[in-house]
Amino acid sequence: MLEVRIGDMVLENPTVLASGIMGTTVSSLNRIARVAGGVVTKSVTSEPREGFKNPTVVNVNCGILNAVGLSNPSAKLFAQELERYNGEAPLIVSLAGSEEEIPELVSFFPMAQGFELNLSCPHVGSMGAELGSDPELVENICRRVKKRTSKPIFVKLSPNVTDIVEIGRGAERGGADGVVAINTLRAMVIDVEAGKPILSNRIGGLSGKAIKPVAVRCVYELFETLKIPVIGCGGIITWRDAVEFLMAGASAVQIGSGVFYGTSIFKSVIEGIKDFLVRKNLSLEDVIGMAHRN
Ligand SMILES: Cc1cc2nc3c(=O)[nH]c(=O)nc-3n(C[C@H](O)[C@H](O)[C@H](O)COP(=O)(O)O)c2cc1C
Repeated sequence: MLEVRIGDMVLENPTVLASGIMGTTVSSLNRIARVAGGVVTKSVTSEPREGFKNPTVVNVNCGILNAVGLSNPSAKLFAQELERYNGEAPLIVSLAGSEEEIPELVSFFPMAQGFELNLSCPHVGSMGAELGSDPELVENICRRVKKRTSKPIFVKLSPNVTDIVEIGRGAERGGADGVVAINTLRAMVIDVEAGKPILSNRIGGLSGKAIKPVAVRCVYELFETLKIPVIGCGGIITWRDAVEFLMAGASAVQIGSGVFYGTSIFKSVIEGIKDFLVRKNLSLEDVIGMAHRN
């Protein structure tokens, strides 16, 4: 009833763990994969990255602001950790780096069932959203990754661009199997007593409830133009949020900040979608893109 197919990837249900939240250890990935339809790892780079100094995360009204700085132990070490992945849900490894580095990372992860290209981190300059703001560069990276793997690849898009659809088109031309919308929005919080920004990096990325309407709009626009599937992400806390994304055109949804309310969020979103379909006598296909037809 809830099974979805995205490219060659079959998800038992349309919920997926978003990158960066609990995706740093294999034990948490294994745990969430018992319930979620898929799991995405924390983004990994070729060299180890310490990330930024604390504070890297701050709570704001209706959301979270973070500038973690893509901290990770390197592709080589993270791959050793992921060898112990035993979840039933597809494991999607999130890759970050330069145009040259990203395609080379693929060979470290034979256990992956797909790859997400993080071309949208808002606070790491040339390895993040700068890459993802140029449709030709996005197309090029996708082509290069596709040459290295026959597994599905997804491009994680940034909302911090003038036209997200242009970037999505670049991903589609490059052979991506889907796009993920959205990564965090560039944002800042200032401590008025200290008179300076709270995050050590000063600027970070906003996630959670506050960004949901922006994310829903991005999914809606991408669905209108692209032929490849769109995966929605941004501020999903309840099943209603998830259904909103499906109606905007998402084939599946990723949950990130919502996990801070507890990992039971996956179960409650899945159950909620199921009850909604029964109550309305609809199939998942009926709901996907519904807002475009009404
Ligand atoms: C603490 C934190 C770390 C994150 N790290 C990554 C990351 O490594 N790679 C990535 O593509 N997105 C990362 N994200 C972005 C999320 O995957 C997601 O796109 C964003 O938070 C919006 O979804 P949400 O509102 O459900 O959190 C991170 C988000 C947070 C809050």
